Amino acid sequence: MKNAIESVLLSEAQLSQRVAELGKQISADYKDKKLLLVSVLKGSVVFMADIMRAIDIPCEIDFMAVSSYGAGTKSSGEVQIKKDLDRTIEGYDLLIVEDILDSGKTLSYLRKVLAARNPASIRICTLLDKPERREAQDIAADYAGFIVPNAFVVGYGLDYDEKFRNLPYIGILKPEVYTK
Ligand code: IMP
Ligand code: MG
Repeated sequence: MKNAIESVLLSEAQLSQRVAELGKQISADYKDKKLLLVSVLKGSVVFMADIMRAIDIPCEIDFMAVSSYGAGTKSSGEVQIKKDLDRTIEGYDLLIVEDILDSGKTLSYLRKVLAARNPASIRICTLLDKPERREAQDIAADYAGFIVPNAFVVGYGLDYDEKFRNLPYIGILKPEVYTK
């Protein structure tokens, strides 16, 4: 697995320090709110597990699964809900937890779908933000862990062709892995 990684972009220590900071900020901002963390499977699962434990106010969690990528490295723009939330979200303050904000197409679609269900508020918390690649103009991260360059990254939940999610750090994938 490590042979496919060109370089480490974010180490385990950098990730855990930043996640702790985000958790603190979210805990302060959502004090007295009805916080519901919505994790977008599968990429955000590692980030979700860490950020929820860095939040020290009462909150609930739920999961959604969407797909827009297949085995490629670019968003097709066609988003499909593969698993919906288990509950109604009316009155909840939603925080969507994402692994990476890339073109923004996935979150743009997801936010519209969720907004139609009358939550009290919706914000976006993404571990990584790749602003260079943004196409959806209506999307910005309310909380972003790190701004990253335009390279395909894997690890800490992020995959290439469903692999590398279990790397404990974020690495830049060697281009020959996805161009061959
Ligand atoms: P968007 O719709 O283009 O913003 O795509 C967002 C989704 O694409 C993320 O939730 C990831 O699953 C995937 N993605 C985008 N960039 C990368 C990357 O560099 N590595 C792994 N997955 C990525
Ligand atoms: Mg993915």
